[in-house]
Amino acid sequence: MKLLHIDSSILGDESVSRVLAAAIVQRLKKQNPALEVVHRDLVTRPLPHLTADDLLPAAPAVTGEGVLSEFLAADVIVIGVALYNLGVSSQLKAWIDRIVVPGRTFRYTPHGPEGLSRNKRVILAVARGGNYRTGNSLAPGEHAEAYLRSIFGFIGVTKLEVIAADGLAISEAQKESSRQAAMNAISTLEICCKV
Ligand SMILES: Cc1cc2nc3c(=O)[nH]c(=O)nc-3n(C[C@H](O)[C@H](O)[C@H](O)COP(=O)(O)O)c2cc1C
Repeated sequence: MKLLHIDSSILGDESVSRVLAAAIVQRLKKQNPALEVVHRDLVTRPLPHLTADDLLPAAPAVTGEGVLSEFLAADVIVIGVALYNLGVSSQLKAWIDRIVVPGRTFRYTPHGPEGLSRNKRVILAVARGGNYRTGNSLAPGEHAEAYLRSIFGFIGVTKLEVIAADGLAISEAQKESSRQAAMNAISTLEICCKV
């Protein structure tokens, strides 16, 4: 079984999403020591923006093909997601632009688009400064988790789990309790649940 671990926070050692994503990977690896883990840090190794040249049939597509193959090969994808300006980091968006590829991860049919990326489990480790939980007044402005749910659904991923730490910018006490709650949720994750 292969796991792809993606980090996308710009905050380095201060990042909460990086800590949570690493804890998820560690938990799953402990349960299955044979798990093959590939780590891609989108901040220390940023991907170039997608351009029209990348879409040409004869494009060398070296960057895109490598990123796409890594995604296609993975059974489990763990993504550290930081909420920046109500959305995902531009580094993570650049990665998404490389994996949403017609004919590879989805296709157009007479009945509309069809996802081809079935049998993958995606786990998001989300860190947010405010409190965007369902029911909270900020919730409709959350476009990171919401966007990732939509785009992974679009390419056919049906098994998506979210571990989120909210309110990290509210106070040190809130930050610590949210981080601890997320770590508790991670401690119950099981490797078994591939769909
Ligand atoms: C550039 C930037 C933009 C941010 N935008 C938001 C935002 O729109 N809403 C919010 O609740 N928190 C925002 N924050 C706070 C982050 O969501 C918070 O620091 C979170 O911990 C980021 O994840 P990370 O620690 O993994 O980097 C922002 C932080 C930065 C650095």
